[in-house]
Formats: sequence, structure tokens, C-alpha cells
Amino acid sequence: MTYPYQIKTLAQYHEVYQKSIENPEAFWAEIAENFVWKKKWDSVLNWNFTEPKIEWFAGAQLNITENCIDRHLATRGEEAAIIWEPNNPEERTRIVTYNRLHKRVCQVAQMLTNLGVKKGDRVCIYMGMVPELAYAVLGCARIGAIHSVVFGGFSAQSIADRLEDAQAAFIITCDGAERGNKNIPLKSLIDDALIGNKLVKKVVVYTRTRTPVSMLKGRDVWWEDEMEHAEHQVEKNGVVSFPAEPMNAEDPLFILYTSGSTGKPKGVVHSIAGYMLWANYTFLNVFQYQKGMVHFCTADIGWITGHSYILYGPLSAGATSLMFEGIPTWPDAGRFWEIVDKHQVNILYTAPTAIRSLMGFGLDYVKNKDLSSLKVLGSVGEPINEEAWHWFSQNIGKGKCPIVDTWWQTETGGIMISNLAGVTPQKPAHATLPLPGVLPVLVDENGKELVGNGVSGNLCIKQAWPSVIRTTYGDHERCRTNYFTAYPNMYFTGDGCLRDEEGNYRITGRVDDVLNVSGHRIGTAEVENAINMHSGVVESAVVGYPHDIKGQGIYAYVIFEGSHHEESLTKQDILQTVSRIIGAIAKPDKIQFVTGLPKTRSGKIMRRILRKIAEGETANIGDTSTLLDPAVVDDIIKGAV
Ligand code: WTA
Repeated sequence: MTYPYQIKTLAQYHEVYQKSIENPEAFWAEIAENFVWKKKWDSVLNWNFTEPKIEWFAGAQLNITENCIDRHLATRGEEAAIIWEPNNPEERTRIVTYNRLHKRVCQVAQMLTNLGVKKGDRVCIYMGMVPELAYAVLGCARIGAIHSVVFGGFSAQSIADRLEDAQAAFIITCDGAERGNKNIPLKSLIDDALIGNKLVKKVVVYTRTRTPVSMLKGRDVWWEDEMEHAEHQVEKNGVVSFPAEPMNAEDPLFILYTSGSTGKPKGVVHSIAGYMLWANYTFLNVFQYQKGMVHFCTADIGWITGHSYILYGPLSAGATSLMFEGIPTWPDAGRFWEIVDKHQVNILYTAPTAIRSLMGFGLDYVKNKDLSSLKVLGSVGEPINEEAWHWFSQNIGKGKCPIVDTWWQTETGGIMISNLAGVTPQKPAHATLPLPGVLPVLVDENGKELVGNGVSGNLCIKQAWPSVIRTTYGDHERCRTNYFTAYPNMYFTGDGCLRDEEGNYRITGRVDDVLNVSGHRIGTAEVENAINMHSGVVESAVVGYPHDIKGQGIYAYVIFEGSHHEESLTKQDILQTVSRIIGAIAKPDKIQFVTGLPKTRSGKIMRRILRKIAEGETANIGDTSTLLDPAVVDDIIKGAV
């Protein structure tokens, strides 16, 4: 397969970028010709950011699985689509060829149909990182069901909230998941999530860990049984087939929940054609994938990075995608490097938090590994500090691999600002330049656009790109107010950003109440709500503070009712409560009991002050004159942890 729309030189980048901004319709129509359509479009783009309403390729029909699987079968059916590396290095690696992937996805499509899943139904997928997760996701797409993958680290309560919000009637899960030396009882968490749920009709359970599970009559079925039955239906005389449902370009492909600055996580909706194009285009251009390369994205498919750069991007390009079940530090801190060595990985796409954590283990784990296959390194999820960038470049890339620093979000569907590996210049800690089709602007708090270079402000995007968020599931108004009302006719990212003298973009972090902890997005309001569920808690305020490995840590100020005789036990109880309500990823790193919070006369918590204290600042707290009771600030400073 050749990739006609891969940009190869800096000059070409500028030329292509110009064209994509001047005439996005012509630009994307040309790229769309490289995909398989069941029916071509009536129009390329209709959009406004006020409702918002965004339509790409209206009138067209397609199925994304034909683009990700079927079209590769004739030329590369026996090549690896997925290389699966198990949690336990002693266990056997699994190679899933495109032919095998096709068969399994057809089986899942048949199985889901047998179970009563229809086009448009929402299917919640709560599994560990096993190939069956990929089959489940693509099986949904094959029949036009909307998948909603929930990360295996979320609690039963979080699953219950998501099931309710998505009105999902079907679940695919595993008995358990292996991650490092932990076994996460996924099915048991699903059972807890389903207490009181009246909507879920079927739960399919794949056996991974042989953890004992309760199977409810009429509701719970085994993946193995259902898949075996389906196999007989989809395979006739050695030929495997299951028709790919014709889908409208703008039909939703998936819902993925993500945290915002207020309320519960929202269900970001992406639609089929635009998302597919973007995942494919950005994958090929940013990483400069060449036929035969092995691409290893270390994310979990429970996050957008896994959706776009383990599954849809690589598979739509007929690439080989490596899927890893475990964690970077088990059995030891050399696991990533061992995988690179073992599978001769060419592209390694990971998160700054993982790099920083592995840096801390020293070079002994790197030394005896052959990393010479590596050609491109990538970073995603949070700003990468220069120290981590250089460590990654020197010790892993051996000074010869470009590093792509890719800025994007769940809502953007794929990479928005990044250098293109070896094609456009890199600059440590800078995402650098926008991808074709992306028109970034910086605005000040009054919405005034900041022109020229050497400016910093809030990052917005001015023009519709193919995979912009279409809605938040079940609540379009929330989508509008969250992203499209802060600055008229612009998508507001929630990030602060600097444009340097050469026009490179550098993301400085969130400007709203969203934290980025180890690359995971967590809303302060969500954590506060969870802490407040503890029976003794009167009120709490949560802020982020700089953390050497996690990027940001979570600092909670808690007003606790009455006295707490054993402070450390109470803290543990609060952590337990947060784990129950959200999941272990949202547990505060520090808890400080306080008698009051700094509030203005109108009752608003002055987080600015709390952030300063959490950062260890004691002297320059800033103006406290507008506070109802300035004395609380001194008390908080004294008790800072
Ligand atoms: C942050 C992850 C700096 C940013 C794909 C954004 C980054 C949020 C970078 C989205 C980067 C992501 N440099 N910051 N290269 N990539 N971010 O939705 O704050 O989980 O708004 O998507 O991560 O997180 P999300």
C-alpha cells in the first residue's frame, strides 16, 4: 500500500497546510477518495460552531470496518494487524493477522446480532487490553452499534453512571484483567454497577483470568459459547462473511466519557467518516508510518489515544499495531524496552508520565536491550518537560529518532498540533505546528484574537476539522456551552498556549478546573463530589499541584465534621470513598484538614489561593482582601501538607 497523502518535506507541509485552510472541502474530498464508500457524498462540509452543527460528507455511506479490515485482505490478509503482548512475559504472544481479525470481527457482529443488538444501540465495553477488546469494538462498528469503552480502572459507580447516561442495554466484559501483579475483577465490578439497573439486557463475559464470577440466568452469557455458535453462522465452506452495515457518514461511531470542569463526565460523540479520515491522516503523517513497520502505542483503549492510535488509525492504514496488556514497570522497569527489542518496534508512542517514571529507575533497564529498530518516538497526554524529552531522545531514541509531541484531546478525535516525524522541525516541549486542516488561534480573556508571534493566550480552533466533537451524548446544549460559547464561532480547548517567535505552539496546561494526573483527565468538581460523599465531610476543595512523575498531583482541602481522632485513618477512609465513587486514579495525593476555605463574600472558593498553597507558596499568596475571612488563609498555610 502506498500512502499518496503522506507529506514528505517541510515545503510540502506548508503548501498542503495552505491548501487545507483555503479550501478544506477540496482538500478533504481528495483524501476521502482513498477510502471505501458504499455511496459517495452529496456535500463535503456543512458547519457552524454556534449550534454547533458539523456535517462532513453528508449523504455518503460507508462502514469503517471495511476500511480498517476488508480492504486489506486481498493484499495483506496474512500480515499482522495486531501483535498482542501479554501482561506476563512468560505467556505466549498472539499475532492477529488481518484475515483472523476479519473472522473474529464477523463473529462478534454475528454474536451481537444473535443477542439482539441493533444498529444505533449503545454497547458498553469494559475489558482489559486483550485482542478480544479490539474484536468487540470493531464488531460493534460492523453492525452500526455505538461502542462506549470504559477504562478498566473506573469504579462500579462510574460504570453505572456511564451506562445510565448512554442508556446502554448491552455490556461486553471479562472475568478479570491482569495488570502488573494485580488482578482487577471486572465482572464483579459490572455486577455492582448493575445493582438497580433495569436497562441492561445482556452481559457477555470473556474468560481471561479464570476469576470466579457470578453468572446471572437470562442476562449473563459466555463470550466463548456465543462466539463458537457465531462461528458456524459466519463461516460457510471456508469463506467468512458478515455484511458490513451501510452507515451514514455522520452516524455516531462511539461515545467516550471524559472529565470537564463541572459535573459528571460527559459522553463525547464522534461520527464515522470524519473520525476515520482524521485518525488515518494524522497517523500516517505524524508518525510517517511505512509499510511493514510495527507501531506501539502504549495507551489503553479505554482512552481516546487507544481508540485512534491502537485501533482506528493504524488499522485503517493496514498497519501492524502492537497492543500491550500490562504496565511499564512490571515485572520490572525494562518492560517497554524489552517489548521494543522482542517485536522490533519501529514507532513508540507513549506518555510523559511513563517516561518520567522510567527515568527514575535509571539506565540499567535500558542498557541490555536492542532498541535499534526504533525510528520514531511520540509523546501525548500532557506537556512533556525538557528533561524527559532529552532523556527519551538520547537514551531511547539514541539521538537518531525524531520525537513527535502530539497535542490533542478526546474531543478533537485525533492529533491537532504536532511536528511530523523527520519532516517538520521538532522543538523540545513544543507541539510545534498545526496539522493540515487545523486553524489554531490564541485569544485573551476578553475573546480578542492575539495575532503575530511571541504571544500567549487561550487556545481555540477556528475552523471545523473532520473529527471535531459532534455532541455530548443526550445533551447537545452541554456540548454547546462547554466548547462553543466561551468565544463565539470558535471551539475552545480549555488549554493555555504560547506561540513562540517562530510560530511554534507550546501547550502550557489547562486553564479550567480540569487536572491532568499522569495524563488522565480528572475534573476537580468530580473529585470534590466524591470526597463530599464521605459521611464526615462538610465541604472540600480540590486543586492540582506540580508532581515530579504524574505531572500534576491532587491536593484536597477538607472540612471534616467534629474532630477526627485518628487523622491518618480518616484520610484513608476518604481515599477509599473516592476509589469507590470514581476509581483509584482519582485518589488525592495529599489531604489537608482545614476549618474553613478561602471564600469571597459571594461564597466562591478562591482556588487561586489554594493552588498557591498546594504549590508550597507561603509568602506571595496575592490579594486576600476580597475574602470573607482572610484569617483562614494563615491557618491553611500553617497546616499545609
Ligand atoms: C493535555 C488525550 C501538552 C491537554 C489525547 C489536553 C497535552 C488534554 C498534550 C486532553 C501535549 C494532551 N502537550 N498537553 N502533547 N496532549 N494534552 O482528552 O491539556 O485525555 O486538553 O486527550 O491533555 O486530554 P485527553
